[in-house]
Amino acid sequence: MAGGVKLEVLEDADALARRAADLIGDAVRANPALSVLVATGHTPMATYAELARRGLDASGVTAVQLDEYLGVGEDDPRSLWGWMRRAFVEPLGVGKVVRLGGGIFDPDTACRRYGAEVSALGGIDLAVLGLGPNGHLGFNEPPCGRGAPTRVVTLTPESLASNAGYWEGRAVPRRALTAGMDVILSARQILLLVSGEHKRGVLARTLREPPTPGVPASWLQGTGATVLADRAAWPGTAPA
Ligand code: F6R
Repeated sequence: MAGGVKLEVLEDADALARRAADLIGDAVRANPALSVLVATGHTPMATYAELARRGLDASGVTAVQLDEYLGVGEDDPRSLWGWMRRAFVEPLGVGKVVRLGGGIFDPDTACRRYGAEVSALGGIDLAVLGLGPNGHLGFNEPPCGRGAPTRVVTLTPESLASNAGYWEGRAVPRRALTAGMDVILSARQILLLVSGEHKRGVLARTLREPPTPGVPASWLQGTGATVLADRAAWPGTAPA
């Protein structure tokens, strides 16, 4: 237990995906109407594939979008909604989704509608998150307070550089919508997945430094979140 965070270190990325699939599967079986905040990015892809391989019945689940680029259409391959649909919603047969920004052109209206839909769900039961190279959660870029609301953000150079890898030379949009830290931190269960040596430094800062706006993920300290890291990201054994 590091600062109110449960850290589990897994041998490698495959073991991490299996453990994450165990935890998500247990949560869905315990509450088939679970509301789940769903990260895209590379890290959780093996977990989602494992859940699909296991035939998890997620027909009662509501999948809630975590973030989206601004000015990117649904059919644009960069759209995070498209990624979430292909990797999570369709393979698991998810019954209902809450979109962030989908089809709404005015960002403030999109954020308000999202907040109302998340409230109508009774909040988030489970947040499945990845860790940005700059410590972001969703697109809550540093500096970011623990109460930051759902909003438009300008991406930092680190995020632009890391996301450039996903889109094969296409320009990365510079602005995005993100679920606020307030939405993320009030989730009843939080699962942060961290894989790879390139996340080692930022994971150490997330767990070991006093919580700071400079590392938004450090606000997870004290929430009881579970962090699953592979040995490449956390070369020691737990605890942090
Ligand atoms: C994606 C998201 C981001 C990623 C983070 C890590 O929806 O919200 O916060 O989770 O940038 O990305 P990967 O897993 O690609 O290293």
